[in-house]
Amino acid sequence: MGTLITPHGGQLVDRTGATEAGAAPAVAITLNERQQCDFEMIAIGAMSPLNGFMGEADYNSVCDNLALANGTVWPIPITCAVDDAAAGKVGVGDRVALNDGQGRLLGYLTVSEKYKQDKKKQALKAFGTDDDAHPGVKVTYDEGDTCLAGQIDAVTPRHDPMFTDHRFTPAGTRDEFTKRGWKTIAAFQTRNPIHRAHEYLTKCAQEICDGLLIHPLMGATKDGDIPAEVRMTCYEVIIEKYYHPDHTMLSVMPAAMRYAGPREAILHAIMRQNYGCSHIIIGRDHAGVGQYYGTYDAQELFDTLPEGGLKIEPLKFEHAAWSKTAGGMVSGKTFPKIKGDQIFLSGTKVREMLVAGERPPVEFTRPEIADILINSMKNG
Ligand code: ADX
Repeated sequence: MGTLITPHGGQLVDRTGATEAGAAPAVAITLNERQQCDFEMIAIGAMSPLNGFMGEADYNSVCDNLALANGTVWPIPITCAVDDAAAGKVGVGDRVALNDGQGRLLGYLTVSEKYKQDKKKQALKAFGTDDDAHPGVKVTYDEGDTCLAGQIDAVTPRHDPMFTDHRFTPAGTRDEFTKRGWKTIAAFQTRNPIHRAHEYLTKCAQEICDGLLIHPLMGATKDGDIPAEVRMTCYEVIIEKYYHPDHTMLSVMPAAMRYAGPREAILHAIMRQNYGCSHIIIGRDHAGVGQYYGTYDAQELFDTLPEGGLKIEPLKFEHAAWSKTAGGMVSGKTFPKIKGDQIFLSGTKVREMLVAGERPPVEFTRPEIADILINSMKNG
């Protein structure tokens, strides 16, 4: 692994490589979409040092102290919650099968503990709200009350992995960075197509790091977010046309989106540290949704972490937009605010334009990207 950043907690976990050989476990649990994503992220080491779903001591410590029970920084409980009927069939020490929604085996969980989760506490602590209109809170509220904890083993190869040309595990991105001779790498988390503001942040980051990892989150997202396949086309096109190939890499991250704002920003950072990145871009309202979080809450949460709690460094950006006066992208740090000077379009407005087949201004979205989005809306 050479000179790249060490994984969170010290070592990359690898829980892949199990086979279906031997007697099938008596009990099979169907994981929901978020749990399936978490399962994969744990198995490939992206959630190192976790090697399975969390027990109660970690669950409470994460909620209350933003750290695992052993003090390692961790912001959000990662749990396998099941309903009472399933919980009743499982005992401590059992090895249960974990399936996806189509009944396909994903792997196994060796149950070390069973406990009741406190959903309201989790919602208030991890998401900062117990409003069930919040899409991440809703997933938690819809889950069962009992958490099954324990080490996991993933059956490989995985069923139907998407985007295999751009699907690197943490060990895979680390190898790739080493091959490219990159020592400092800025990760760009996104769940959207790359608009001009995103392009600005990523290119500023390229000025200070050897490489940029464009690392779109491709696991479960909420209704209304742009589908993964469409976003992927946008990334490929914009990278091809507007980025330097020697300093840019695209890889998908199969994590679920929780929309937990500040706490999720910390989780995003931990995962990118595991993928080998030294820096992560944290802009305005990172991983936010609706009006639940303040514009810079996520950035501020990094400042409260204990010294050395995270090795990866946040690259904090103020809200960026195109200034007509400056004739380029600016932020509150680079150009004073002048009334009516910045091109600002709400997400709703952009959507309306695209649905109507209208390109947003080039200062907001590159025309090539606008066209992909317009086409996808026509067809979808
Ligand atoms: S997120 O859920 O992944 O955070 P999004 O894909 O919109 O959503 O944002 C990706 C990253 O770009 C985040 O770090 C976000 O804070 C940042 N960002 C998005 N738009 C802007 C902007 N106009 N100015 C500054 N930062 C931005």
